[in-house]
Amino acid sequence: MLGIDIGGSGIKGAPVDTKAGELVEDRLRIPTPEPSSPPAVAKVVKSIRAHFGWTGPVGVTFPGVVVDGVVRTAANVDPSWVGVDAARLFGEATVLNDADAAGLAEMSFGCGRGHEGTVLVLTFGTGIGSALFIDGVLVPNTELGHLELHGKDAEHRASSRVREDHEMSWDKWGERVEEYLKHVEMLFSPALIVIGGGVSKKADKFLPHVHIDTPVVPAALLNQAGIIGAAQAAAGLARRAH
Ligand code: BGC
Repeated sequence: MLGIDIGGSGIKGAPVDTKAGELVEDRLRIPTPEPSSPPAVAKVVKSIRAHFGWTGPVGVTFPGVVVDGVVRTAANVDPSWVGVDAARLFGEATVLNDADAAGLAEMSFGCGRGHEGTVLVLTFGTGIGSALFIDGVLVPNTELGHLELHGKDAEHRASSRVREDHEMSWDKWGERVEEYLKHVEMLFSPALIVIGGGVSKKADKFLPHVHIDTPVVPAALLNQAGIIGAAQAAAGLARRAH
């Protein structure tokens, strides 16, 4: 199955072995067009399909709320996405929220594997994405990056982009992540929190500054999770992660 992950800075795709949770060819990354309007992004999706000679169904992630293939929010991409039937636009596509896709992959093949109870996969990138699992079953579109912290959207205080834009030290950013995670912990009392997104490979730099009661682990699949989860969803394997 072909998986495509639409992010704020890049659109990445690769064919995936959905049983093994592995890419079967090198992924292709194309910078997200600016503006990231529906026709411009659809063109990139089409060229990724063409690159892999793909004519069949495809799984695609989107960095916003997606209900029945229709985009409902677009915090970090062009606002003209709201109301667009992305499943139809991309042609025979299963479209789901980016963090939900990454979460599905982590729960099936990564750190969440075999974990029952409440598990949260939180992705730190341009925004903060969330995927909530109860006994391995996804509760889609939770949008915990938009919880309010100090009167602001949490992702405007603690996303990876905020750290980069403000050239923040890892310990200062780690404190912000801790504060955010404490809030999430208070609301959900999860059994496990998995930290995903590109920054998960730098976990040794900030996780030592994060002190909460819930176990917190970096994601195992790093930047492949979205592609793998998109493919899983399209293959219809993702209703239950395990
Ligand atoms: C969006 C979410 C998305 C997250 C990560 C947030 O701003 O509202 O839908 O999962 O960014 O891309």
